[in-house]
Amino acid sequence: MSNLIWGLILLVFSAFFLNLDAFELRKGQKTERISGSAGDVLEDDPVGRLKVFVYELPSKYNKKILQKDPRCLNHMFAAEIYMHRFLLSSPVRTLNPEEADWFYTPVYTTCDLTPNGLPLPFKSPRMMRSAIQLISSNWPYWNRTEGADHFFIVPHDFGACFHYQEEKAIERGILPLLQRATLVQTFGQRNHVCLKEGSITVPPYAPPQKMQSHLIPPSIPRSIFVYFRGLFYDVGNDPEGGYYARGARAAVWENFKDNPLFDISTEHPTTYYEDMQRAVFCLCPLGWAPWSPRLVEAVIFGCIPVIIADDIVLPFADAIPWEDIGVYVDEKDVPNLDTILTSIPTKVILRKQRLLANPSMKQAMLFPHPAQPGDAFHQILNGLARKLPHDKSVYLRKGEKVLNWTAGPLADLKPW
Ligand SMILES: *[C@@H]1O[C@H](CO)[C@@H](O)[C@H](O)[C@H]1NC(C)=O
Ligand SMILES: *[C@@H]1O[C@H](CO)[C@@H](O)[C@H](O)[C@H]1NC(C)=O
Repeated sequence: MSNLIWGLILLVFSAFFLNLDAFELRKGQKTERISGSAGDVLEDDPVGRLKVFVYELPSKYNKKILQKDPRCLNHMFAAEIYMHRFLLSSPVRTLNPEEADWFYTPVYTTCDLTPNGLPLPFKSPRMMRSAIQLISSNWPYWNRTEGADHFFIVPHDFGACFHYQEEKAIERGILPLLQRATLVQTFGQRNHVCLKEGSITVPPYAPPQKMQSHLIPPSIPRSIFVYFRGLFYDVGNDPEGGYYARGARAAVWENFKDNPLFDISTEHPTTYYEDMQRAVFCLCPLGWAPWSPRLVEAVIFGCIPVIIADDIVLPFADAIPWEDIGVYVDEKDVPNLDTILTSIPTKVILRKQRLLANPSMKQAMLFPHPAQPGDAFHQILNGLARKLPHDKSVYLRKGEKVLNWTAGPLADLKPW
């Protein structure tokens, strides 16, 4: 069949489908609460279930770094800053380390942005090492477990592997000094050296107030079938292609750039947030890392996330029913994306939309200030509380050492 005929068929089909959807959606604005444990877990209250001791560090590990570059407050890695602020005034905080279940070290290792705003975690390993050296010599708690009752916020592309390119991140592996700690990270991929068992996968930071200010009335129909804005190729960092997004974004572009059902482009319009609220499906393909802020944006704006990132581990997957609210498409199936999405029954689409409309689903994706019950801060605490009590085996005998303080690349060992 010629491309022209295909185009016509798609146009007719889309007109039919979108009309139906716009009509049904107005009726279907109801929300649905996921039944069973998932909904209950989302609404857990961590207060009274754990106590966290916040180490006091010299401001060069946190506040001073932020002063130098306030852009870090709006960056997708900003969770490390907001989590610190949240814990300082949280009822789970204890000033008595003897009664703490968890120890938290406030280091802003992602707050190192290029003039263009790209985070480069090249100094992070030395900075993290320096902070751990400091807490382990000034307090007795690190040496007791070598970090097994400590948690760290490492929201970088590949978490505590501290590199933005996967190949390099894998080569580095998780920073040796963090190998017993619990890592709270945005990165999540099954069977990957940068995700160790017991880590807590969190959503990337997306500015809550800003998103709120772009909400449009829910009665406005979703007249865009598939929406995506972002890079398809990263020519600067991946000149030969195929490495960036493992080729999945390139495949989206090459297959669907002329498809009328697909509203996709590299141009970032000022109506980006509004457009997501007018779309049925929002593509969330991997980039350098499997995750991107689109995941959060899609949930907030009620656009069904189409997750294209093989083996991704999604945020708070023990509490959020990602299979029910989103659509998973294998990277190799990107060329069939149109067929996959158009063959999802309207009934199924409407249910996903009702689940997405549930406020507790949205709340869990956000780091609002001030914090609110059920938000991402509370989900992180819930995750930490569910790991208690610590296994007896985490406590080392006096003088016993497990971690190798001199392992890892030589350059990481230089003082910070
Ligand atoms: C913890 O162990 C390190 C060496 O392994 C030592 O230098 C440090 O003094 C110890 N910390 C405390 C508080 O005893
Ligand atoms: C620690 O790591 C260094 C560097 O990889 C290695 O040379 C050394 O043998 C290791 N020490 C132990 C006790 O495993």
